[in-house]
Amino acid sequence: MSANQSRPPPLPRPRVAAMRGYAPGEQPAPGVRVVKLNTNECPYAPSPRVAQALREFDVDSLRRYPQPMADRFRASAAALYGLRTEQVLAGNGSDDILNIILRAWLDPGDALACPAPTYSLYPVLAQIHGARMVPVPWADDWRLPVDALCATGARLTIVANPNAPSGTLVPIAELRALAVRHDGLLVIDEAYVEFADESALALLAELPNVLLSRTLSKSYGLAGLRFGYALGDARVIAELAKVKDSYNCDALSVAAAVAAIEDQDYARQMWARVRAERARLATTLTQRGCEVIPSQANFLFVRPPGGDGAGLYAALKARGVLVRHFAEPALADRVRITVGTPEENDVLLRALP
Ligand SMILES: Cc1ncc(COP(=O)(O)O)c(C=O)c1O
Repeated sequence: MSANQSRPPPLPRPRVAAMRGYAPGEQPAPGVRVVKLNTNECPYAPSPRVAQALREFDVDSLRRYPQPMADRFRASAAALYGLRTEQVLAGNGSDDILNIILRAWLDPGDALACPAPTYSLYPVLAQIHGARMVPVPWADDWRLPVDALCATGARLTIVANPNAPSGTLVPIAELRALAVRHDGLLVIDEAYVEFADESALALLAELPNVLLSRTLSKSYGLAGLRFGYALGDARVIAELAKVKDSYNCDALSVAAAVAAIEDQDYARQMWARVRAERARLATTLTQRGCEVIPSQANFLFVRPPGGDGAGLYAALKARGVLVRHFAEPALADRVRITVGTPEENDVLLRALP
């Protein structure tokens, strides 16, 4: 054994050594054929305009650093949503946006409140930043626990709307009621909002403590691109910009992201197809004896007859269909199934035990 191997490696910050890190959904090895319905990706290819933008991209320009604030994307997004450019922040996926928010808003020991269960990245980010995670149970039927969230006094509250993994949407009026009473920053994680009936965009005009987090991963078929953004009060965006990585969005991804959001006709067609399949899948699963929570996202949270979520996950996997199972007790009786193409959904339905 060399001297190097016998010497223990240096230790990171104690809270990093103690944490397990985020567990992403399984990614099958290259070449392995599965019907992949486990990470809420879009079943359709991105707009042809994305391919065109990448083909026409000036490779020579990669010699230069990209624009630090992804100005072309900011301008397109601002025009699309009727906001000012200064109200948009671009990120390397919305996970980057969420990380930037925690970095800017929470000192060690500060509270991050979330209705729970929800997106499993939030507690991991809280651990990284030494923040105190305050999970507040959802009220019955996945309604927003407004009073309990206000009572936490947290500097930062994140509500995923639609929520993951339930797929449920809380009415914007309830989010407004929370924001009005909340002293801190209220982040509404709208990763799935394009599949839902309403968004909280209108709240930005009246409430400076509301920030929306969005992504191109789900609704624009671009999970592999890594592009997300925040919309909010220009003063909040300016604070967030101080702590982001200097060049957090590369020039290629900005070109592709702009092409994607500027092709709203194509995107809207995809969303409509996903919604139609969501309805068909929910109806058929219900007819097969499953309990399906009404979803406003591109996935369904499904309790099979008997409630053996782990068993259903394993049986589907053995038949080449990947869905997601969460081991934590409150979620373990269900699986989360991403809505696929009609053909993929048929394979899933045939593979049900
Ligand atoms: C609620 C929620 N927010 C954010 C994300 C992150 O998306 P991305 O980093 O790909 O933009 C996900 C992904 O699963 C999610 O479920």
